[in-house]
Formats: sequence, structure tokens, C-alpha cells
Amino acid sequence: MKGIILAGGRATRLRPLTKVITKQLLPVYNKPMIYYPIETLIGAGIKEILIIVAPEHAGNFMNMLGSGRDFDAKFSYEIQDEPRGLADAFIVGENFIGKDNVTLVLGDNIFDHDFTEHIKSFKKGAAVFAKEVHDPERFGVVEFDKNGKALSIEEKPAKPKSNYAVVGIYSYDNKVIEYAKSLKPSARGEIEITDLNNVYLKKGELQVNIVDGIWEDAGTFDSLLRAGNIMAEKAKTNVPRHSGLSRIKKK
Ligand code: DAU
Repeated sequence: MKGIILAGGRATRLRPLTKVITKQLLPVYNKPMIYYPIETLIGAGIKEILIIVAPEHAGNFMNMLGSGRDFDAKFSYEIQDEPRGLADAFIVGENFIGKDNVTLVLGDNIFDHDFTEHIKSFKKGAAVFAKEVHDPERFGVVEFDKNGKALSIEEKPAKPKSNYAVVGIYSYDNKVIEYAKSLKPSARGEIEITDLNNVYLKKGELQVNIVDGIWEDAGTFDSLLRAGNIMAEKAKTNVPRHSGLSRIKKK
């Protein structure tokens, strides 16, 4: 299993914070935001990680993160010329993925959940995670039947069919590259991860798990502040994150 972190995009929702600094390098308490998805992947046992960045910020990411040696991991970088959508990660990352399975984490998603067992047991198809939220219209939303089987996933629906948001960590088998290439851009001009998940859902190959740990999409002022406060609280009370933090070499 290889890992990809998608850390491009324009982050217009966070202007003026993101006028010269990219969102994923903004601080979340005592660390740059991108440290959290990196720790999520490394904590789950994934050491080979591709970081996809926007051209104007590529140098800053490489200065900040380097080869990955400080994290006991190996980092590669690719530039996404235009923010063509989340599913583009598998087209930009095609060479890196090779013939392996892959787990994508969004560069602004902060988890306190141990994905080790999930990664170890993943074999084929696709696996996504959902969490109950009070503002599902901000996210991909999954609808379940009464037996807990996923029926549909809709991207930012005006009338959500449930309160379960699809969070920003996704595992796929190698067919994801071919499926991503077959997607057509949505009304907002992006190839959507939700459409990709629906390809697997229609084939009966999508597994939806529930995340019980903390999850924040730190892409708005309020969620960025909340994520910082949560991590500050954890740091002060010395509660380790559930993501294998202790396994990461400190500089
Ligand atoms: O946070 C979970 C949500 O993430 C899911 O529930 C949604 O289904 C999914 O579409 C996504 O929604 P967002 O609106 O939050 O995605 P956003 O545009 O903020 O992009 C997420 C990250 O990916 C962010 O770090 C920027 C980066 N990105 C985004 C795009 C569109 C790229 O690197 N390239 C891109 O082309």
C-alpha cells in the first residue's frame, strides 16, 4: 500500500491567510497542517508517500519536508498544474502508484484515529470512512439503508440524505487509475472523488466504515481554529494521538 497526500488547490475559503502561504503549511497549534495527514499515513504503516502540490508552493513543501528521512519515510513530490479535482491525484500519481494499492489523505484533513488494521486488511475494491456531523451539506454525504449498507454518495448535496460525511481518507485497489481517467468533470469543473467512489459503489466494491475518533476538515476559519484547539488540548494533557505519533522520529 502506497500513500498520497493531496496538498494543492487554491484554498480561496481561507483568504487572506492563504494569499502567500498555502493552506497545508498553515499552523495547527504547534505543527504545519500537513504534518497531521503525514502522521496519519505513517502511523498506519505507510512509508512511501507522494505529496501532490501546486506549482507556486512546491519549493516550500520541499524545504519543509525534504526527503522524508526525519519522519523515517520516503517522500516523493508531483506538481498538479491546475486543481482539476481530488480524483486527479490518481492520474498525477500514476507512475508513483505503479501496480500497488493506494491510500489518499487530503492535506487539510486531521484525524485522531488509528488506521493500521484497516490498511493491513485492505485487499481490493475501495474503502472510505464516514462520520456523523451537524453540517453534512459541506461534504460528500453517504446514505445508508436500515442494515447499514451504503446506498448512495452525493457531493455537497443541498438536501443531505443523512448526517454522515465522507471523510478525507480513501483506500483503493490499482483499478482506481483507470476509473479516475474515465471520469467527466462535474458542474464545478472538477473530477470528483465522490464520482470515483460511486463507480466502486455501483460495482458493489465499496466498503464504508465509520470513524469514531476525531476528524476535522481544517479548510474553513472555524474548523482551522477548532483543529488547533483540539491539538493544543491533547498536547497539554499529554494524550498521544492515535496515529502512531511515537513512531515518528523527532528532529
Ligand atoms: O474533507 C472531506 C471532503 O473533502 C469530502 O467530504 C468531499 O467529498 C470532498 O470532495 C472534499 O471536499 P472539499 O470541498 O473539502 O475539498 P477541497 O476542495 O477543500 O480539497 C481538499 C484538499 O485537496 C485540499 O487540501 C486542497 C486539495 N486539492 C483540491 C483540489 C480540488 C488539490 O490538491 N487539488 C485539487 O484539484
